Amino acid sequence: MRVTSSAFLFLLAALGQQTTQALSSDVQGAIQRVVKYPAGVNIKPGSFIVELEGEPGSTDVRAAATSATSSFAKSVPKFIVDKQYNTLFNGYSVRADKNFDPAQLASLPGVKRVWPVKILTIPVQTSPVNITYPYLHHATGVDAVVQNLGFTGKGLKIGIIDSGVDFNHPELGNCWKTSGCMWQFGSDFVGDLYNPNDANPIITPGPYPMDCAGHGTHVAGIIAGQGPTVIGVAQDATMGMYRIFSCPVDGNVSSSDDLIISGIEAAYRDGVDIMSLSLGGGGWPEDPTAVACSNMVKKGVVVVAANGNEGAAGLFTAGSPALGQGVISVGSIDNWNNTGGAIDIIAGAGDKSISSSTPGNADVPFVFPDPVSLAGVSNSTNSNLGCATISQDLKGKVALVQRGNCTFNEKAVNAQAAGAVGVIIYNNVVGMFSPSVTDETVEIPLVLISKDDGAYAVSALTSGGVRIKAPKGSIITVPSSTAGQMSDFSSYGPGPELDMAPYISAPGGNIYSTYPLKFGGYTSMSGTSMATPYISGTVALLKQAFPSYSVSDIAQALVNAAKPRDDQTSGKKIHPYWSGGGLVNIYDAITARAQVSPSLIPINNTNHGRLSGVAGFSSSANVRWARRTVTIRNTDKRKSARISFSHSVADSLTNSNADGTFTAVPRVWPADASGSQDKSTLPQVYIPSLSGSSSVGAGKSRSVDVYIISPYGLKESGRWFYGGFLNFTLTWSGESKASSYVVPYAGFNGDYSKIDVLADPSEGLPVLTDINGKTLDSPTTFGANGTNPIAVNWRLEVPSRLVTLSLQNTKNVTKGYIVGGYNPYVPRNQQTADTYLYHGIVNGTVYSDAQGTKPVQLARGIYTVRLDALRPLGDAKSKSSCQTWVSPAFSVA
Ligand SMILES: *[C@@H]1O[C@H](CO)[C@@H](O)[C@H](O)[C@H]1NC(C)=O
Ligand SMILES: *[C@@H]1O[C@H](CO)[C@@H](O)[C@H](O)[C@H]1NC(C)=O
Ligand SMILES: *[C@@H]1O[C@H](CO)[C@@H](O)[C@H](O)[C@H]1NC(C)=O
Ligand SMILES: *[C@@H]1O[C@H](CO)[C@@H](O)[C@H](O)[C@H]1NC(C)=O
Ligand SMILES: *[C@@H]1O[C@H](CO)[C@@H](O)[C@H](O)[C@H]1NC(C)=O
Ligand SMILES: *[C@@H]1O[C@H](CO)[C@@H](O)[C@H](O)[C@H]1NC(C)=O
Ligand SMILES: *[C@@H]1O[C@H](CO)[C@@H](O)[C@H](O)[C@H]1NC(C)=O
Ligand SMILES: *[C@@H]1O[C@H](CO)[C@@H](O)[C@H](O)[C@H]1NC(C)=O
Ligand SMILES: *[C@@H]1O[C@H](CO)[C@@H](O)[C@H](O)[C@H]1NC(C)=O
Repeated sequence: MRVTSSAFLFLLAALGQQTTQALSSDVQGAIQRVVKYPAGVNIKPGSFIVELEGEPGSTDVRAAATSATSSFAKSVPKFIVDKQYNTLFNGYSVRADKNFDPAQLASLPGVKRVWPVKILTIPVQTSPVNITYPYLHHATGVDAVVQNLGFTGKGLKIGIIDSGVDFNHPELGNCWKTSGCMWQFGSDFVGDLYNPNDANPIITPGPYPMDCAGHGTHVAGIIAGQGPTVIGVAQDATMGMYRIFSCPVDGNVSSSDDLIISGIEAAYRDGVDIMSLSLGGGGWPEDPTAVACSNMVKKGVVVVAANGNEGAAGLFTAGSPALGQGVISVGSIDNWNNTGGAIDIIAGAGDKSISSSTPGNADVPFVFPDPVSLAGVSNSTNSNLGCATISQDLKGKVALVQRGNCTFNEKAVNAQAAGAVGVIIYNNVVGMFSPSVTDETVEIPLVLISKDDGAYAVSALTSGGVRIKAPKGSIITVPSSTAGQMSDFSSYGPGPELDMAPYISAPGGNIYSTYPLKFGGYTSMSGTSMATPYISGTVALLKQAFPSYSVSDIAQALVNAAKPRDDQTSGKKIHPYWSGGGLVNIYDAITARAQVSPSLIPINNTNHGRLSGVAGFSSSANVRWARRTVTIRNTDKRKSARISFSHSVADSLTNSNADGTFTAVPRVWPADASGSQDKSTLPQVYIPSLSGSSSVGAGKSRSVDVYIISPYGLKESGRWFYGGFLNFTLTWSGESKASSYVVPYAGFNGDYSKIDVLADPSEGLPVLTDINGKTLDSPTTFGANGTNPIAVNWRLEVPSRLVTLSLQNTKNVTKGYIVGGYNPYVPRNQQTADTYLYHGIVNGTVYSDAQGTKPVQLARGIYTVRLDALRPLGDAKSKSSCQTWVSPAFSVA
């Protein structure tokens, strides 16, 4: 499954509000207060979230809001305090004129930070292929729980923040808040006309959170579909829906952070036990939505959130709120079977029925009730890609084209121009996904088929005429070629400071669920959006079994019982940064008779030196190692258990090529290893105090020291992230069957606080350009001024807590921050065309403060820009914690 959606775009063109802090004095002490998202993050101009000092509830938010209102009512037209938060977030949101300077808010007493309001788009794929749903529940233990233990989520309240729900659906209760109805709480926050991108969004909440987008209805079915077609994970849970996404606008379904926080606070007030958030983006635990979710966790609510759909961009793509403290972040696994529209191939070589994706242009169905000829596209240079004008006559035929080299739009336009009545694209890699055709001139349908089916059609064409048929409504179910593997869209962790993300994975690729009746009632969708409600449902089953479990008990039980997945090529385990503990198994979680804590081991720093006295380990080399205490609790009060330990190595991951340049899809060790696979190239784990005869008494705990040794045989310059699974197997006395409990661990092979965060210099960055992106020659005589500015283009390959760009004179004396020169909590760039770079601007104005309120008078002359990017875990006050770059000199006129 490949996806195209991206929550945030970092565009060269869009310059956000400048925010900085006083250079000398502030950098020494004060905390910056106005957060600026990098250029390109979609924000609501003039809207801000004001975060106040102190815990939620400790401040009189209403008084603070009133005082802000009276401060700006006269001077700023249209200044309104919009929402006030006081349970999970301490602060309020503001809407003002788009030119309103947030620094003014930051200067009010008690203000901790002022955040721009981020707009996010639903991270989802529309209808790829349909699947046979119940098979999933067999693979995740849900069937066994329902059949053998009888838990169905009864009595548990699950809140969903989404696009609403079609509660009139027969498989979703066909009721709203009536007695005995599955829907007992929730509300509409937006109405049908809301578009966060409008200058003045129209908010007209209706009496019910009715869904006009589809996403929320699909998510709801995964948790609580009543059957017979869609069997939810927790069919008897009591459900709530908070609608913060409205109807699609230009195909996008969007909302904004201020509404997400409102939705979370409302759900908390309604007393939800479990909060399910199939949304997210960004990437720091300090983001307001992550803070609100962390606070909800602290208050005892289980919060489950999508890890993100940015897997194609590689490491550090986990979003917020998934990165909130204690939030259960969820990765996606591809379904075992795909059900899609059937295409019958009629050929001399033999007939075959194959499955296809949903059409790329949703309003043009791929329907051919009578046989039509299939034509393999091939031009005079034997290209079958269909990327150039097609000279073949395809009149009345369906064109067969290979995926690659140009867009689906171009392929469709070319085939249509040659007379084709339809296009079948065959994949060039394994897996299925939903192509997208947005060109409105395309009037013929386009679908995707698998690589194997494409090869079959191509070979059938070599032995004569081939026709195809695709009757309306004809559906076929076939095993998926990516069954049980991580969905390639699923985002990777870790968090910016090596926090584990995701925690766990669930089926999310090719999921068949309920859909609003007006759109047909059922469809398939893919995304961590689909995996998230699956986990929320399993949490309800677990909480029903163990009502007194705390949030961390729940997370621990899920992760301990998860099943790490094997990488099909390397045969090793998939890295915890991609899959967390692995595929959920709720039956094993509920029937567990032991608990191992901590359930996740993030290794953010290591000791470096000789390690001796650890039985089993021998190396005279200086190695990096970490020691952690792990406690195994035998919850069986009657029987003692024997403990045996094993260690499963996961593939190491890196975003660096051997030459130091960046690669989006991580390289894995040892799959791409050319050299030795000595055990020094793998992480090693030793537990000296556990021997073959170790045991733990009935109802007792046992703590052991675990030594985790980095793969010191891998060069640290390779920037590898290693990981694996501790595997404790317990056998209770008098029993022969054993049970295993896993603890994923992961860390960086090197000193993470010294890792480079900026793109490698060999990639030509950072670089000075003119405002149109044209590189300026060095040394440049370019005269920067207001009409002729210089752009400083930079790129992060690792997130940075603070990036500053300041102008300095020929004596290296700092004159102030340039425009866009103060950037706290910066996510990594994603190296796609739209998300390639951040930039600051030299236009002749610099500021002495982070808020950008104190312009400095600049003398004409020669200057350089100094860029300081704080390395991870570093101290913002210390320049030595930064990676620094100094630009070529230029003149400011
Ligand atoms: C998925 O199933 C629904 C309902 O059966 C159907 O309307 C839809 O066309 C199917 N989609 C595909 C891609 O087969
Ligand atoms: C054949 O197609 C390829 C790509 O689809 C294109 O680059 C090439 O120019 C085409 N050749 C001719 C002769 O049209
Ligand atoms: C298509 O792209 C691949 C990979 O970039 C390249 O090797 C190949 O030559 C391209 N084919 C054509 C016909 O342009
Ligand atoms: C679904 O997948 C499983 C495992 O690949 C297979 O055994 C089963 O037959 C499939 N079901 C259908 C209807 O294809
Ligand atoms: C890093 O690890 C230390 C323990 O070694 C812990 O106290 C600290 O909170 C960790 N930091 C992060 C950001 O996880
Ligand atoms: C844990 O150990 C058990 C018993 O040896 C084994 O069956 C299981 O596959 C192991 N699991 C992992 C993830 O290594
Ligand atoms: C800015 O610099 C350009 C090129 O050096 C020059 O033509 C222009 O007059 C300057 N504009 C101002 C406002 O100084
Ligand atoms: C530089 O850009 C900032 C922010 O857009 C603006 O406030 C300032 O007036 C500009 N300076 C010049 C000299 O144009
Ligand atoms: C300014 O700093 C650069 C290094 O960034 C150094 O090479 C240069 O000598 C310094 N110039 C002065 C005048 O200190």
